[in-house]
Amino acid sequence: MNLSEIIRERRSIRKYLDRDIPREVLSELLEDALWAPSGTNRQNWDIYVVRGEKKDKLLESVKLAGEIFKPKLKTLFPEKMVNITLNFFRDLGGAPVLLLVYMPKVTYEIRPDMSSLEKYKAEHARFTNTLSAAALIQNILLLAKEKGLGTCWMTAPKNAEDQINEEMGITDKELVSIIPIGYPDQDPPAPPRKGEKIHWIGF
Ligand SMILES: Cc1cc2nc3c(=O)[nH]c(=O)nc-3n(C[C@H](O)[C@H](O)[C@H](O)COP(=O)(O)O)c2cc1C
Repeated sequence: MNLSEIIRERRSIRKYLDRDIPREVLSELLEDALWAPSGTNRQNWDIYVVRGEKKDKLLESVKLAGEIFKPKLKTLFPEKMVNITLNFFRDLGGAPVLLLVYMPKVTYEIRPDMSSLEKYKAEHARFTNTLSAAALIQNILLLAKEKGLGTCWMTAPKNAEDQINEEMGITDKELVSIIPIGYPDQDPPAPPRKGEKIHWIGF
């Protein structure tokens, strides 16, 4: 597969085979992913690779996140979709491994009266760290696809971030996303992409 095919054919996978991923495969994938760009090359990220009992414990917190997220989901999707989504939160589709991406915890204040520059300065660290972590995560998703692995980028678990961090024993970092990873047990259709997102100027 070339890069364009990998990008276009990657899907969010929400059902996985009961098949372990060899550690060498995960290690190679993550070492490659770490070549993502990062703001001022800070590489302000950490990846936790979790399986076994700790993963099962984390699933309890993810399930809680689903319950907390439920009222919001109901405003976004029809009932059937809400149930499918919540079902996924119960076991993350049986994924054998969870990747947790963290960035440093930073605090700042944004006030409505701030200028754009003041806001940017105040949130610069978190803004840059978030974008850098997103580049890392996209690398993970694409490299996984290349290796025949499925993933689902998830931020909804942040609804139970305190519980997740406690389970992980992490106090000084912010959870960016959780990515279940495993061999896919589904081939979902591509959700349609919206048009008119590219604005050509001066062509
Ligand atoms: C920042 C971000 C957060 C996401 N969070 C969730 C999530 O919490 N749960 C989930 O099931 N999917 C989540 N997704 C996956 C999107 O729903 C999915 O990418 C989108 O529907 C397009 O489908 P595709 O990935 O198959 O192309 C997230 C994706 C991104 C980029």
